[in-house]
Amino acid sequence: MRLLVTGGAGFIGSNFIHYWLRTHPSDQIVNVDKLTYAGNPQNLEGLPPGHELLCEDICDADLEARMEGVEAVFHFAAESHVDRSIDSAEVFIRTNVLGTQRLLEAARRRRVSRFVLVSTDEVYGALGATGECAEDAALRPNSPYAASKAAADLLARAYFKTHQFPVLVTRCCNNYGPYQHPEKMIPLMTTNALADIPLPVYGKGEQVREWIHAEDHCRALEAVFRRGQPGEVYNIGTASRLSNLELVQTILRLLDKPASLIQFVTDRPGHDFRYALDSSKARRELGWEPRISFEAGLAATLAWYRENRSWVESARNDSYRKYYAERYENRDQHLKNL
Ligand code: TYD
Repeated sequence: MRLLVTGGAGFIGSNFIHYWLRTHPSDQIVNVDKLTYAGNPQNLEGLPPGHELLCEDICDADLEARMEGVEAVFHFAAESHVDRSIDSAEVFIRTNVLGTQRLLEAARRRRVSRFVLVSTDEVYGALGATGECAEDAALRPNSPYAASKAAADLLARAYFKTHQFPVLVTRCCNNYGPYQHPEKMIPLMTTNALADIPLPVYGKGEQVREWIHAEDHCRALEAVFRRGQPGEVYNIGTASRLSNLELVQTILRLLDKPASLIQFVTDRPGHDFRYALDSSKARRELGWEPRISFEAGLAATLAWYRENRSWVESARNDSYRKYYAERYENRDQHLKNL
């Protein structure tokens, strides 16, 4: 089978390509990735044959030509960092909304038989101290990033309703694992702790996130592709929920680093308090469930960042340094230690 993957040089996309070619070695994957700061060709090292990387923007590429002979599309490409969307939203609208529409249109014209859109739990917005969101909960996105993903998610619905185009939407909780850009919570805190530099916890660290290992997410995407119903949405979650402070304390404990490294910094504007998914539909209808416990997955992930220092260096490129320099008061120390 031939697949088209977008954003396959990024975090979840590259984990997916490794997963897919390991479990389906005779398949072929065309990977369309713009290689922004968040995409890294090193994420694709060591893959078996069957993978082709095309450095192209989904907003400009000749997508219909790229879909020649393609049976399924897995759409990961997205601007994904909430803080960046607060600073500058336009590129989020272009890539996440326009890019998704262009991809849906090309796939529809090419009569691609399955299109899996990787959405996010952030489209539901924030929950209070209790409760979970099922797939029929209202979409109340709060950040420009979440709004752009909600727009893409609804475009997928529209292509199903209007054109009967077989789109399946997944809304997954926060991912962690290898190849995640160190601007995101777990790799940021891990690499800072390894370098003995402060860990910037927003506000009081009371916000709660639900965490899944990328490998479990990739298995869920395959289950959705094989057993999901077109036009349906599937929440992908683990019920492993922690406050940010608990998470940072756990990372420090596992790395044997002092709690004094925690630095409470100004909170993110509009910071969503809590995400929690009801993912019983995926378990019931797809027979999927996560296999990697948070404790085991986190320990393996910390070990990966410890062992892959050169990957961390390459991810922390110039644009990342500049971004960091602008964000943090202790920027001189950050820059010195990067
Ligand atoms: P993040 O990895 O950016 O994912 P998202 O915002 O999409 O959930 O952040 C996860 C949580 O960690 C979120 O509540 C914000 C918090 N956070 C910090 O406290 N400090 C940081 O430096 C970052 C990047 C995130």
